[in-house]
Amino acid sequence: MKSKLKHRAKGSTVAALDIGSSKIACLIAIISDDQGTMEIVGVGHHASSGIKSGTITDLKAVENVIRHTVHTAENMAAKTLKGYPLRDVVINLPPAHAKQQIEQIDINISGHEVTETDMYRALARAQQKAINKYPGDVLIHSIAASCNIDGHGGIQEPIGMVGESLHLDVNIITAAQNAIKNMSTCVERSHLDIISFCHSAYAAGLSTLVEDEMELGSTVIDMGGGTTSIAVFAGKKLIYIDSIPIGGKHVTSDIARGLTTSLSHAERLKTLYGSAMATMSDDNEMIDVPQIGEDNITNHRHIPRSLLVGIIQPRLEEIFEMVRAKLNDSGLGPLAGRRIVLTGGASQIPGLRDISQNILDKQVRLGRPIRTNSLPETMQGPDFATTTGLLTYLAERSHEIPSNISNSSEDLSIMEKFKVWLKENW
Ligand SMILES: Nc1ncnc2c1ncn2[C@@H]1O[C@H](COP(=O)(O)OP(=O)(O)OP(=O)(O)O)[C@@H](O)[C@H]1O
Ligand SMILES: [Mg+2]
Repeated sequence: MKSKLKHRAKGSTVAALDIGSSKIACLIAIISDDQGTMEIVGVGHHASSGIKSGTITDLKAVENVIRHTVHTAENMAAKTLKGYPLRDVVINLPPAHAKQQIEQIDINISGHEVTETDMYRALARAQQKAINKYPGDVLIHSIAASCNIDGHGGIQEPIGMVGESLHLDVNIITAAQNAIKNMSTCVERSHLDIISFCHSAYAAGLSTLVEDEMELGSTVIDMGGGTTSIAVFAGKKLIYIDSIPIGGKHVTSDIARGLTTSLSHAERLKTLYGSAMATMSDDNEMIDVPQIGEDNITNHRHIPRSLLVGIIQPRLEEIFEMVRAKLNDSGLGPLAGRRIVLTGGASQIPGLRDISQNILDKQVRLGRPIRTNSLPETMQGPDFATTTGLLTYLAERSHEIPSNISNSSEDLSIMEKFKVWLKENW
């Protein structure tokens, strides 16, 4: 279904804020033409503080980093913003808080052409069902994942087709109200209005997958600092999400513990000498490990690189074994496709592609943002896949935002619309 919403006006600005366990990043874009093309005019990113595996543990700390990051991006975009502060922002939904359900909806079309209104009506009904089932949740995405008319499946664009009854499987993603409230508080204290949330791994997929991968079935694995999240795409739709509360930071703390060094030295050792797979030469290559509390360089330990790799490898294997179990339990089977795209900052460790390929038994490639023009070089790496995907989501998929659906649906009574509005705006 195409967006019923008009593109944002040429010259208007939109922003994305990616609140991660390792970094918080902000992108400001201006709509540069009547087709809704976005041009990046401001960027900011900063190490995060007060977030653990996607959950806020210190509101004040997160708020400070957001303010600093947004301020940096606003300064860079000063010429475009012409003194006006940034307002509208799309932010990531940390996967730990996401819940997915498939709602089945049947609509009678009595021999007429399916209209855009029919589709919105069906989606709004799915949202209503989901709200009734989980009254404590906030709606995040409503995606028409598959569609059939009079029992004929595989229909990609039902609008304009004729039939008696329309059946939709709607992928509804919701999140616990309290988690959303905490994130909103941090963002709104920086005087920003959240226009939408977007699941982190969904955004990562939107920015890294090529069209054929989205169409034929692919699994994106976003390996962040505190979380590894999964998004499966097929028929260009998001059909499955899940996550594991383990990421690159866990690898770093394993190294710190195993080699009795500080977290910052462990992070440095990981990025400089780390690998997901042992090689023949690792026993001969010696590395220098500063010990906790020992400033004197003569007290550094010299260890073979194989010791470091021996700490990293089991943790990464554990992550991929958990991903494999999640995918097996999902029941998606061949729908999930043969292709895996690894992205996120923690995907940069050498050898990761090989071990993931062995464990998951699929073709694996490394993914970085490919769908956003004018990104500065510092933000072209896999750690910014989610950040850039948030803008792609706004540009291409705003018809999946629940409030847009309820506003566009003529089927719900004013009272029902009010209930949906309340759910979305807590
Ligand atoms: N060159 C590298 N090699 C290995 N790991 C790296 C490298 N560069 C960054 N990382 C790891 O990437 C992780 C951060 O990734 P990313 O920026 O995607 O996380 P995040 O989005 O902030 O976290 P999350 O999505 O879990 O909330 C850190 O654990 C960091 O150690
Ligand atoms: Mg992330």
